[in-house]
Amino acid sequence: MDVTGIRVPKSEFMYQKKEELFTREYIIVQNDKLEFPIYVYRFSDNEYSALWMKCTHQGAELQASGDMLHCPSHGSEFTNKGAVSNGPAEKNLRSFPVIVQTDTITIDLRQS
Ligand code: FES
Repeated sequence: MDVTGIRVPKSEFMYQKKEELFTREYIIVQNDKLEFPIYVYRFSDNEYSALWMKCTHQGAELQASGDMLHCPSHGSEFTNKGAVSNGPAEKNLRSFPVIVQTDTITIDLRQS
């Protein structure tokens, strides 16, 4: 694995149930180098967002709920693109560029 990025196979967004293949809306990526996990949302095969799961209010770890991120501390909410949709947080979430390839995506951590 490249130290400046996390590679994720696109197949991680797929799962099988009774012979049928389904697509997950998002996955949570953990990495030893990161203090907080990353929420990776799949808009389409070519479009993803990767958001740092650290609340911009006082730094609590966010919880994913479908296409939203919710802060258990004081109730802030963020969209799947990292924008604040409910305070008290005022700043959007930090997001990482995602490089999309045929079978994998790479979350670019170089600015971390
Ligand atoms: S730390 Fe998240 S809302 Fe306060």
